[in-house]
Amino acid sequence: MLEKIESTRNNFEEDLKKVTNLETLEELRLKYLSRKGIVTQIIDSLKDVPKEDKPKVGKAINELKKFTFSTYEELKEKFEKEHTKAESSIDLTLPGRTKEIGSKHIITQTLDEIKNIFKGLGFSVYEGPELESDYNNFEALNFPDDHPARDMQDTFFITDKFLLRTHTSPVQVRLMQSKKPPLRAIMPGKVFRNEAVSAKSFCLFHQVEGLYVDTDVTFAELKGTLVAFVKQFFGQDVKYRFRPSFFPFTEPSAEMDIWWEPKGKEGRWMEILGCGMVDPNVLKNVGIDPEKYVGYAFGMGIERTAMRKYGIDDIRILFDNDKRFLRQF
Ligand code: PHE
Repeated sequence: MLEKIESTRNNFEEDLKKVTNLETLEELRLKYLSRKGIVTQIIDSLKDVPKEDKPKVGKAINELKKFTFSTYEELKEKFEKEHTKAESSIDLTLPGRTKEIGSKHIITQTLDEIKNIFKGLGFSVYEGPELESDYNNFEALNFPDDHPARDMQDTFFITDKFLLRTHTSPVQVRLMQSKKPPLRAIMPGKVFRNEAVSAKSFCLFHQVEGLYVDTDVTFAELKGTLVAFVKQFFGQDVKYRFRPSFFPFTEPSAEMDIWWEPKGKEGRWMEILGCGMVDPNVLKNVGIDPEKYVGYAFGMGIERTAMRKYGIDDIRILFDNDKRFLRQF
């Protein structure tokens, strides 16, 4: 009997090495301390030990009992503490959080592409504020006082004299006022129009304005530059045309169309930009001598251009920030 007690203790100690958590501790308990466990059976067998051996065997059994149970209790307490601590701070079994990496919005991508094409054609990039004076947005650009674009329906007026710019053309004014010709720059930015929101128009959109002022600038150069642009942007085989048009700040003025054939739909001409030779009045307004200098200017809407290129038919989707849409680009 004493031998059995001795070997049980040794086995118990051996098995103890494998106990690393609550689960393995429970296995140990089942094997030794449960109702049918080895230690419990030894305790039960004390009643069959001959009377004269009882004190000795009883003492050994008692020691085994004390040792195994107290070891078990100690470990149980230790593991339970660790478990609750771990649970409250970190659960290693949870799946990790994936980090979402952002990407450039389709409008930013289109703007970057347009900027790069014009940089390649010798233009620098110049920017101006979104809150503008009525003077820069309209007056300097030769808009008569009663021009319909000044109407409250089109323009977000902040005060009598200040507004959210309705186009990027006031940046032309700022550039010509602050630097001497020759000037050759594009001016990208947000513009605002107080219009009913629909699939075709939004209260906010982006434009890129272009300006070239020097002593010998011609309409032919303007055309050449814009043709080079549409070929690079839409592809070499793009079909385009120029139509006479009107803008208060250019004379003569034109609009450029490209042939657009959305998949499964009939093709048609679509206007993509306005352009013209800077009106001598505008040059005068910004202090440039119209006898000595000439200039051309053009302006295009980025949303429209991107919609043409990628076959998007509702402008509002560009402002929804729905990731399912944005991820496609
Ligand atoms: N500013 C004009 C618009 O918003 C576009 C334009 C720019 C036309 C420059 C001619 C020259 O419609």
